[in-house]
Amino acid sequence: MEKKTVLTGITTTGTPHIGNYLGAIKPAIEMSQGDQYNNFYFLADFHALIKCHDPERVAQSTREIAATWLALGLDTDKATFYRQTDIPEITELTWILTCMCSKGLMNRSHAYKASVDANRDSGKTDLDDGVTMGLFSYPILMAADILMFNADLIPVGKDQIQHIEMARDMAGRFNHTYKNLFTLPEAVVDEETQLIPGLDGRKMSKSYDNTIPLFCPADDLYKLIKQIKTDTREPGEPKDADNSTIFQLYSYFADQQETAAMRQQFENGIGWGDAKKELFEFLDAKLAEPRARYNELMNDLGAVEEVLLKGADKAREVATPLMDKARIAAGIRPLTYVAEAKQEKQKKEKSAEAIARAEEGRRRAILMQLKPLLEKVEQAEDKSAAAQQLISEKTSEVEGLKKKAKQKAQNELDLLQEELAQYL
Ligand code: TRP
Repeated sequence: MEKKTVLTGITTTGTPHIGNYLGAIKPAIEMSQGDQYNNFYFLADFHALIKCHDPERVAQSTREIAATWLALGLDTDKATFYRQTDIPEITELTWILTCMCSKGLMNRSHAYKASVDANRDSGKTDLDDGVTMGLFSYPILMAADILMFNADLIPVGKDQIQHIEMARDMAGRFNHTYKNLFTLPEAVVDEETQLIPGLDGRKMSKSYDNTIPLFCPADDLYKLIKQIKTDTREPGEPKDADNSTIFQLYSYFADQQETAAMRQQFENGIGWGDAKKELFEFLDAKLAEPRARYNELMNDLGAVEEVLLKGADKAREVATPLMDKARIAAGIRPLTYVAEAKQEKQKKEKSAEAIARAEEGRRRAILMQLKPLLEKVEQAEDKSAAAQQLISEKTSEVEGLKKKAKQKAQNELDLLQEELAQYL
């Protein structure tokens, strides 16, 4: 069976945090480690422009995300790791899909509807206030990201499921209208990693400002961990591990035994300060090595750039031929383009002509040899008798011969009969 293609993109607007790592980066890197899948992971820098008009931030986030994935050990010889904007075919496909996508479908997009709802709630008369065409049609760019590589499986957060369904819709519409070129993708959502809590106990997310950057300096890491919200239980009082952000973050990095030991400490009434210290020391030990690699890469961005450009070359090996097909299917073609089916037909017609020409040549060659016999008939007084005699001589010659020679004589006989038909 052919390997399935796994693809996901990371919008380059922020600094990778622990929620990103546990929810997206770690599972994606793990998925690329076996031989089970083809993996395409990319920096969605065009997506960044939808929400962020601060160029420095977009550029810096792109550096940080690239360095983070490499520092965490993504093997770019196996996985294809690239920057969206290095693949011009993606934007090209975006337009073709834009013309395959009904506006009504985009009207239903959660991201767009959320903006409309916010405008309505704040009493604005223009419900589209602040909505750019980028925000409105961003599921189309995302569909192009996915379809351009015929990806099967798309690991995403819950909020993105709708976009994958929209990509299916557009793929289906293209396939139906033009040609069956695109795979219908499927979202893969890991429920467990949706719940990684941030400093305030809500889901860790940039938009809640409750994140812990994955590779911040150890001092900052400790400072942030100290900010994690806890209840008022005193040291010595048993604590509810399952409702503790500290315990949950710990357990995401720990093995079973370590988790059980920490749970025990909670039951024994570890003080919050000590629990935070343990969490810090544990995370710091886990992160020290990739953090050092990350810092090295951030100081050697030329090397990271090179990795991305190599990834783009690999990605375009897939995108370029597929985009050629998509363009042609939609009628965007060189003026001299002849469709494959037509090409086949023309080839056949040509070969029929060639066969006829060869046949004619063969015929003429044999006739040259037979010329004296034919002339004899022409000169005979009783042409009819001469012709009949010649034919009957040739007929018995044919009958007496072996296969190959027989065929040759038969050919001669056939031609003689043709040429002399008027006399026979
Ligand atoms: N929109 C996605 C997000 O915000 C990022 C993204 C862009 C993406 N293109 C993609 C994810 C293609 C999966 C596939 O998380």
